[in-house]
Amino acid sequence: MNDMRILERAVSQTDIKISARKVQVYYGEKHALKDVDVDIQDKTVTAFIGPSGCGKSTFLRCLNRMNDTIDSCRVEGRIALDGEDIYDKRVDPVQLRARVGMVFQKPNPFPKSIYDNVAYGPRIHGLARNRTELDEIVEKSLRGAALWNEVKDRLAEPGTGLSGGQQQRLCIARAVATQPEVLLMDEPCSALDPIATSQVEDLIDQLRSEFSVVIVTHSMQQAARVSQKTAFFHLGNLVEFGNTDDIFTRPHDPRTESYISGRIG
Ligand SMILES: Nc1ncnc2c1ncn2[C@@H]1O[C@H](COP(=O)(O)OP(=O)(O)OP(=O)(O)O)[C@@H](O)[C@H]1O
Ligand SMILES: [Mg+2]
Repeated sequence: MNDMRILERAVSQTDIKISARKVQVYYGEKHALKDVDVDIQDKTVTAFIGPSGCGKSTFLRCLNRMNDTIDSCRVEGRIALDGEDIYDKRVDPVQLRARVGMVFQKPNPFPKSIYDNVAYGPRIHGLARNRTELDEIVEKSLRGAALWNEVKDRLAEPGTGLSGGQQQRLCIARAVATQPEVLLMDEPCSALDPIATSQVEDLIDQLRSEFSVVIVTHSMQQAARVSQKTAFFHLGNLVEFGNTDDIFTRPHDPRTESYISGRIG
């Protein structure tokens, strides 16, 4: 191999943040995900698309072991974060979820103040040495989530008193506050109006300069707008994965073609 090839290989391997191989997920007897192989690149937005029930949320939850909380759920195969198996017995799922954060479809602020919602993670993970540093993290995270101007004068008020769209941006601020390496977002804009959606999309684009984002979306326009890589799931299989442009303009698999042209889904 020539020097250039060696270099390219080294670069492409270090760029991989999460690698999944032969992942199977079962809920009891039901085989919900079959043989999923995928590499999530660092500093990239990856979109998961596909018809309802195809396994997008199931796979997303594998990436930070959120499926551990579902009794009937069993995950097989290998998922590595920076080359280390996240299902290894020595991995603490709480620590893992600080590195691989998650934003859910339905905003779920804690019954705490706006400030405490954002400060929660940094406090339990000891990210601030004093109140000034904590204030800085809270402000930076709220700014990052395009919410600061709306809440800066009411930080002590309950997070649950915000509008739905504001609550979702608060949840994003909470996830960003622990400085995750990967942020998983499961249909984060489905409760948002077009303005808040566009703010969250802008935010996603900014976030990728710092870490990887994986977003599940039913909106193909959104996938095309925000992601560089797209994975198409169908009936528990990862059918096609590639550059977003290619998936939307030159899909290889007829199932992908049917879905993006609106014939299935
Ligand atoms: N907690 C659960 N218990 C049993 N089966 C489940 C559970 N969660 C998901 N499933 C099943 O696993 C399959 C994949 O579901 P999943 O929620 O991952 O789909 P999805 O692609 O996210 O769908 P949607 O677009 O509707 O959110 C479905 O057949 C679903 O019924
Ligand atoms: Mg889902």
